Amino acid sequence: MGKLFVMDHPLIQHKLSLMRDKNTGSKEFRELLNEIAMLMAYETTRDFPVEDVEVETPIQKCTTKMLAGKKVAVVPILRAGLGMLDGVLEILPAAKVGHIGLYRDPRTLEPVEYYCKLPTDIEEREIIVLDPMLATGGSSSAAIQFIKNRGGKHIRMMNLIAAPEGIARVQEDHPDVDIYVAAQDEKLNEHGYIIPGLGDAGDRLFGTK
Ligand code: PRP
Ligand code: URA
Repeated sequence: MGKLFVMDHPLIQHKLSLMRDKNTGSKEFRELLNEIAMLMAYETTRDFPVEDVEVETPIQKCTTKMLAGKKVAVVPILRAGLGMLDGVLEILPAAKVGHIGLYRDPRTLEPVEYYCKLPTDIEEREIIVLDPMLATGGSSSAAIQFIKNRGGKHIRMMNLIAAPEGIARVQEDHPDVDIYVAAQDEKLNEHGYIIPGLGDAGDRLFGTK
């Protein structure tokens, strides 16, 4: 089964509490989401392999470490995943970016795909999928499946807030995928919204409600 990492660093908890507040407007919400995504990317990449390299400092030559593993692809799930992208690219500036367009049908709660464009060498890359909300898990699970169908193999999922239902769904559908979250919330309500959550992430990011 894929591992679950809950990144409850004090800075992340503080910023997430501000995001949950219904009085926080879109501008601040966007800034906070990118800041948290940057902090999460730091932890999500903690197991990336490094190798010895030789570097000449102004004083002398030395053996030191640099990243050794696969190149990275970051794949936000539209729309709300876009809100995490800039923060992640701040510390992974060489990553290529794919996009998956999905929306959740409000009646069936099933994900509907409308766009998918991934780097052509996706099968060679370490892939980080971004979506702030892991609710039923339908969207994240479907996005991971699209990536696998196009050859992606090394996938990790980064969500801001996850419900136990969504974590269980992704772990069951994709036991090879580790999940990195800032908070695990209590449950879903009858409309599939996370309790307590932060409401509709896409609407709060883009001011559409
Ligand atoms: C939200 C969110 C996730 C999905 C989570 O997107 O950003 O993609 O719901 O729900 P699930 O785990 O039950 O699938 P939404 O469908 O509202 O689309 P949007 O980002 O375009 O607003
Ligand atoms: N999508 C959201 O944006 N928020 C939720 O709580 C659930 C799904």
